[in-house]
Amino acid sequence: MWKIGNIEIKNALLLAPMEDVTNIGFRKLCKEFGADVVYTEFVNSDGLIRKNEKTHKKLRISEDERPVGIQIYGGNLEPMIEAAKIAEEENPDIIDINAGCWVKKVAKRGAGAGLLLDPPYMQKMVDEIVKAVNKPVTVKTRIGWDQENIMILEIAKRLEDVGVAALTIHCRTRQQGHKGEPDWSWIPKIKEVVNIPVAVNGGIMIPEDAKLAFEQTGADAVMIARGAIGNPWIFSQTKELIENGKLPSEPSIDEKIKVTLQHLRYEIARADNERWAVIPFRKFYSGYLKGFHHVSKIRQQIMQFESYEPIEELLLNYLEEIKNSPHYEQAV
Ligand SMILES: Cc1cc2nc3c(=O)[nH]c(=O)nc-3n(C[C@H](O)[C@H](O)[C@H](O)COP(=O)(O)O)c2cc1C
Repeated sequence: MWKIGNIEIKNALLLAPMEDVTNIGFRKLCKEFGADVVYTEFVNSDGLIRKNEKTHKKLRISEDERPVGIQIYGGNLEPMIEAAKIAEEENPDIIDINAGCWVKKVAKRGAGAGLLLDPPYMQKMVDEIVKAVNKPVTVKTRIGWDQENIMILEIAKRLEDVGVAALTIHCRTRQQGHKGEPDWSWIPKIKEVVNIPVAVNGGIMIPEDAKLAFEQTGADAVMIARGAIGNPWIFSQTKELIENGKLPSEPSIDEKIKVTLQHLRYEIARADNERWAVIPFRKFYSGYLKGFHHVSKIRQQIMQFESYEPIEELLLNYLEEIKNSPHYEQAV
């Protein structure tokens, strides 16, 4: 059972924090498809205390995406405490601390996965944050630094001792980055040493993976990251698979195009400027349009556009064309 504050969910599906991906529009979309809890991308503590406008905007959340967690990161105690307080002002349901980012420029400053190298310091930081805010504090971390230094059991216990509400474990080491096999076998071992809810993350790309992750690990929640990019259906499909034992059919090409445009409209609605939503949205097309007939031409064209209308026109025309072609049956 995923239990944080007033949130209690069986077989909870969490949308992972992802930089430049889990912004407000995508979170709303995933929520509509059945994500139980969503997270902002990681927000830099130093940027927040310097009142950097761009950083501060990453804290924006909306009522229709609750429960939502704001994730913060940093390697220094005071700025992290301050950042947690600033994040709290936005009234999220959860404040999540990133102790897993593997990227060199983050980890070498002692932030993200860098915290794994000093468990007492990580514990102190989290302790101070728990005391400084009135929201539930959770931590997302990894099993260890590398294969020789797997310290998650010690860390999990230390974090439970200072009042962390739940843990998410990306079951790879810092050395693995995002590659290689995640080792889910650590989840049952962690659950033996702590009583707080534990979410499993890493390598959950299709609904069957999510079901297997619950079954094999006994995790309280499954957190999905790359498996949701261009594929928010993963949440509804997983729910159906777990609840009814059968996997729903793939969404049709019509549905995929409809949802692509819906997602883009959500991004535009929340952006200060249409162009600033349309250009970063380009990274989503390969996921949404995967497997479409003659799609490379469409992708090339779509990359030229900087506003919504021509994108909608292109995709709806493509849909009309494909419906009248023998490839339609194959594509759906
Ligand atoms: C584009 C991208 C951005 C990410 N940004 C964050 C982040 O801001 N905070 C975080 O905790 N993890 C971040 N991650 C890691 C994911 O949350 C997740 O732990 C990782 O991708 C493993 O899960 P997966 O195998 O299901 O993709 C990011 C991953 C990707 C692919």
